[in-house]
Amino acid sequence: MRVLILGGTTEASALAARLAGRSGLDVTLSLAGRTAAPKPAPVPTRVGGFGGVDGLARWLADERVELVVDATHPFAAVIARNAALACARRGAPLLALRRPPWRAVAGDRWIDVSTMPEAVAALGPAPRCVFLTVGRLELPAFAAAPQHAYVARTIEPIGDELPVPGVVALRDRGPFDAAAERALMQDHGIEVVVTKNSGGAATYGKIAAARALGLPVVMVARPAKPDVAAVESVEAALAWIEARIGG
Ligand SMILES: NC(=O)c1ccc[n+]([C@@H]2O[C@H](COP(=O)([O-])OP(=O)(O)OC[C@H]3O[C@@H](n4cnc5c(N)ncnc54)[C@H](OP(=O)(O)O)[C@@H]3O)[C@@H](O)[C@H]2O)c1
Repeated sequence: MRVLILGGTTEASALAARLAGRSGLDVTLSLAGRTAAPKPAPVPTRVGGFGGVDGLARWLADERVELVVDATHPFAAVIARNAALACARRGAPLLALRRPPWRAVAGDRWIDVSTMPEAVAALGPAPRCVFLTVGRLELPAFAAAPQHAYVARTIEPIGDELPVPGVVALRDRGPFDAAAERALMQDHGIEVVVTKNSGGAATYGKIAAARALGLPVVMVARPAKPDVAAVESVEAALAWIEARIGG
């Protein structure tokens, strides 16, 4: 049975690892190619876009894919939609593996916003020291508020994505623990954190650290995703796949 995992997340890699070497399964992991040196995967990996819905539907046909798991990031909205449309067209079963969002707990000072421009506005007019953990490609929005001092942490170099004075660029890839995040925020004099509500344990450390330090967090809500069968854990995705192998 041929399975395509649309990846780029910890969960996609974990699912690929659990399926690797299973007899009767031919699994391919697909990455968009945003990261120059992705972690090696234990299954064959393809890199780069398919060319929209048509390209993905064609790829599914050419490769005779029978199951698709959309394990892309909660903020990757285009590929999720493309997968839903292409799978519907091909009649290929699709499962979305979507980790649950973070929920505020006592002590959290979240400012909930829906878009990156709203996050920029939420920082206010007065200069502040802002920790940006929104991903490199979201940085340009913050050029609209050059009065702030930014500490931007990204996996890839930020290049000229944030053309304002006073940017400290940190390059690192999670997981990040709360103690280290707290130390980092204190060292840089962070006053407010901006993050997407990605969910998951690997990057929750900044949320716990902000709470411990009493700092506000501008929390960008997730985009809408297509209404398809969905689970929240790798275990549940495995069970879904096994049910189809068995059937
Ligand atoms: N957005 C985030 O915050 C974020 C954070 C961490 C990781 N990621 C990962 O980075 C990748 C790209 O995210 P994005 O927000 O740019 O996605 P997106 O806006 O939903 O997708 C843009 C285009 O990138 C291509 N693409 C996306 N994911 C792909 C995959 N797994 N395999 C092959 N092509 C893919 C598709 O191109 P075609 O139309 O040409 O097929 C898609 O139309 C995803 O794999 C996602 O899991 C995203």
